[in-house]
Amino acid sequence: MNDNSSVIKLEDICFFYPGSNEKVLDHLNLEIKKGDRIGMMAPNGSGKTTLLHTIMGLCKPDSGTITVFGNVLKNEKDFLPVRSKIGLLFQDSDDQLFCPTVLDDVAFGPLNLGFSQHDAIEIARKTLERLGIPSFEQSVTHRLSGGQKRLVALAAVLAMEPEILLLDEPTAGLDNMVQEKLINILNGLDISYFVISHEFDFVKAVTDKIYSMENGRILTDDKIHIHRHEHIHKHGKQPHIHK
Ligand SMILES: Nc1ncnc2c1ncn2[C@@H]1O[C@H](COP(=O)(O)OP(=O)(O)OP(=O)(O)O)[C@@H](O)[C@H]1O
Ligand SMILES: [Mg+2]
Repeated sequence: MNDNSSVIKLEDICFFYPGSNEKVLDHLNLEIKKGDRIGMMAPNGSGKTTLLHTIMGLCKPDSGTITVFGNVLKNEKDFLPVRSKIGLLFQDSDDQLFCPTVLDDVAFGPLNLGFSQHDAIEIARKTLERLGIPSFEQSVTHRLSGGQKRLVALAAVLAMEPEILLLDEPTAGLDNMVQEKLINILNGLDISYFVISHEFDFVKAVTDKIYSMENGRILTDDKIHIHRHEHIHKHGKQPHIHK
């Protein structure tokens, strides 16, 4: 693959949820190339999650072409091999995590990729350490807080060493310190990623371009002008930074 090669290409994609007459994706086009770090900011219900699920083959489009790593994907058997190379962080961590303990959840991906039990656990431990949560190892996943689950879900995705990351609101529920850690991790990766978020500062810190969605289509950054609103407020008790 050369440096500017296409990793994911969606062409003229239309998608309706079964039984609904709302066209969520309407002749949508999107290309993610090697090295791209793209942010996506768009209103609730505009189809961002549906878009990621379409790339993964979890939503099957009514028309259009999905090409991933140069292969056109049509049926379930085409999507199976690419799913392990694309790391999707689900918007809802409960969709991602299903094992009894955190270590099992994070080791699940590497095990599925064919690593031995020993190696999968080793990879899982290293990934938890990298995210600063080695102490969660034996925790019961479903008893963790929302933010803690989010981190474990991220560990589960990163443990698979995907070739591209699709992150659906990764900072939702994360405190500032953990968000900073996530920013450092993302900025230290040398893979492409596409990250959905409603937090401008986060998106700006980790991406090179910001897209939006409207009427079932992508608006690229030459078509939108995202801007920041400043506001005034009382001093408050918590320390904070103005930039
Ligand atoms: N399983 C489903 N069945 C029917 N309609 C759905 C389903 N999931 C989503 N939709 C509809 O599709 C549209 C797009 O939803 P989607 O979840 O992709 O939006 P989103 O941009 O990710 O929103 P948010 O910012 O709230 O996460 C919405 O109108 C939603 O009601
Ligand atoms: Mg969503």
